Amino acid sequence: MSPSSPRVAVVTGASSGIGRATARALARDGYRVVVAARRADRIAELAAEIDGVAVACDITDPTAVAQLAAAAGPEVHVLVNNAGGAFGLDPIADADPAQWRAMYEVNVLGLLHVTQALLPALRASGDGLVVNIGSTAGRVAYEGGAGYTAAKHGTKVVTETLRLELCGEPIRITEIAPGMVATEEFSSVRFGGDQAKADAVYAGVAEPLVAEDIAQAISWVASRPSHVNVDELVIRPRAQAAQHKVHRTG
Ligand SMILES: NC(=O)c1ccc[n+]([C@@H]2O[C@H](COP(=O)([O-])OP(=O)(O)OC[C@H]3O[C@@H](n4cnc5c(N)ncnc54)[C@H](OP(=O)(O)O)[C@@H]3O)[C@@H](O)[C@H]2O)c1
Repeated sequence: MSPSSPRVAVVTGASSGIGRATARALARDGYRVVVAARRADRIAELAAEIDGVAVACDITDPTAVAQLAAAAGPEVHVLVNNAGGAFGLDPIADADPAQWRAMYEVNVLGLLHVTQALLPALRASGDGLVVNIGSTAGRVAYEGGAGYTAAKHGTKVVTETLRLELCGEPIRITEIAPGMVATEEFSSVRFGGDQAKADAVYAGVAEPLVAEDIAQAISWVASRPSHVNVDELVIRPRAQAAQHKVHRTG
């Protein structure tokens, strides 16, 4: 890579919400951003907007992830493992094991596939950063959330383990754990498209976080000097003092 080449960032789950806002923020910061998600039309549009590269990719498919790594090139400076999500809110007694499996697949194994595929390029950059998007659900339990909280606890532990294993290498590892972020799709995906249930999650909360709030945090983490590793950031809206303590009006 020539000295004038831009630094490269890869953002998974860039077709909506936090991933899309992060891709835009990193592009503003001067990165050439490789955007990945399953919906090819949406990432193609985003790539055109930010002068980036779109790679249609299901992160649970190692073959597709290998193609993502090939498209990203020999040096990657920032990897944002953002693709993920929650499926269902059923108590353990009634939970669907297929939904639990799908949550583990995307929030943990998908992150594993992408990290494994991009580690050589992160090393080759001489100054790599991996940002994993966990959740406050990776910190506490809540009723109906066990499948998702188990998966996001997994994201947290994988992040911590990777930091231990790469100690001494030129790669920083950060977890960002957001609380309630009002993105357009997260809750609708969780409730299988039931918009009334999705809207109820944010009902009466004056100012939940928005995707841009998390994107700004990622931009800040990436812009610290290379010797500064931000281990983790837990970010909630002011109205959410804890998972069960949300100020609602009306
Ligand atoms: N919103 C919140 O309150 C909140 C709070 C804490 C943590 N988080 C975490 O933040 C991350 C982003 O959430 P969000 O709110 O921005 O949700 P979102 O709008 O639903 O975005 C999820 C993204 O992940 C992609 N994705 C899902 N499965 C994928 C797969 N198998 N392969 C590739 N891409 C996949 C989706 O794109 P395609 O469908 O096009 O593939 C989409 O771009 C997730 O990890 C989520 O768990 C969210």
